[in-house]
Amino acid sequence: MTDKAEFNCSFCGTHKDSVQKLIVGESVAICSDCVALCQTLIEEEEPNEVESQSDVIEKVEPYAIMRHLDRWVVGQKTAKEVLAVAITNHYKRVFNPPPKGLTIQKGNVLLLGPTGCGKTLLAQTVAKYLNVPFIVADATNLTEAGYVGEDVDSMISVLLARADGDVAKAERGIIFIDEIDKVARKSENVSITRDVSGEGVQQALLKIVEGTICRVAQHGKRKHPQEPLIEINTKNILFIAGGAFDGLLDVVKARTTGTNIDLMKFGMIPEFIGRFPTTINVEELSKQELIKVLTTVKNNFIDQYTYLFSIDEIELSFTDDAIEEIVINCMNQKTGARGLQTEIERVLRPHMFNSGKYKKKGISELNIDKELIINPQPIK
Ligand SMILES: Nc1ncnc2c1ncn2[C@@H]1O[C@H](COP(=O)(O)OP(=O)(O)OP(=O)(O)O)[C@@H](O)[C@H]1O
Ligand SMILES: [Mg+2]
Repeated sequence: MTDKAEFNCSFCGTHKDSVQKLIVGESVAICSDCVALCQTLIEEEEPNEVESQSDVIEKVEPYAIMRHLDRWVVGQKTAKEVLAVAITNHYKRVFNPPPKGLTIQKGNVLLLGPTGCGKTLLAQTVAKYLNVPFIVADATNLTEAGYVGEDVDSMISVLLARADGDVAKAERGIIFIDEIDKVARKSENVSITRDVSGEGVQQALLKIVEGTICRVAQHGKRKHPQEPLIEINTKNILFIAGGAFDGLLDVVKARTTGTNIDLMKFGMIPEFIGRFPTTINVEELSKQELIKVLTTVKNNFIDQYTYLFSIDEIELSFTDDAIEEIVINCMNQKTGARGLQTEIERVLRPHMFNSGKYKKKGISELNIDKELIINPQPIK
């Protein structure tokens, strides 16, 4: 053991007096800061892009999916359970074709519930975990083929691009169709003029979500008419449609009818609903859950901003009542956890604006208390 290793971290060179702990081994030493850094590196390591089929199979197990979701998504216990089972069944079906004479119904998923409570996050987190290509398509941008806008096949070419052009990978990917409630039929009556942006889109989606062969260009739009098209079978692509359906949750809670009937009242056509046999309700987040989203869940907002400030060598911290105040303000915005980011931006803006000045003044700690939430202003 050299003297240096006894007193200094072998990784960053910091002296033991300047760190919380220095763990000394036979010929090397590591400080607590480097241990923490290594820990995040190991945890945050992004999975490689889609590997093999067996790679997905191994991970498809409801408990394992649930455990993974718990690390990234706060609350939503029932939604996670239902999603974990739906995902497991989907990939079981994909990788174990049933014997002749038996067809297992495709299990697309409808994710319903208020804005900013984790619908997209749930779908995204599952896809990341499984290592399958995943895209989010906004239903409001979709139109029937032949009309201005993106036709529904464009989702498939984006998915193919996400799978690096690998058809087999794309064919077991996940497509999240967001804002599905925005393509609700405008009225209960069938009108003579086509409802292009609403019912027309639902109609256009029917085939693709059920399973059909789509012919798409390798890179989105065809550059010239001769460019060969690639065939993608959508039968094993999992479609998850998400929508806020404002007011639906109240109806469902006081329900006398099934969710499907309620969805029809909200303008979804029966053929569309029929292709999404699993319905998952995401709940509004409670105060305690929002605190967790802010402070403890993986990739939480406080960690994100703490990192941003650390670049300027400023240690950011919050008092408990400041955290509570942020959450209360967020709840008043009625935008779910999205409000947290709006709030934290509002609160930290004066400090982010002045962080250069702070550095010059030698301010290395920034403790945000309730007063600075009510009245955000730079430190004098
Ligand atoms: N349950 C949750 N756990 C952790 N973070 C969450 C949760 N819900 C929302 N968030 C945070 O809020 C952001 C927005 O959530 P998300 O995009 O999932 O909302 P959404 O339910 O899809 O809303 P919308 O209906 O507006 O699309 C996420 O990126 C995440 O940072
Ligand atoms: Mg969303």
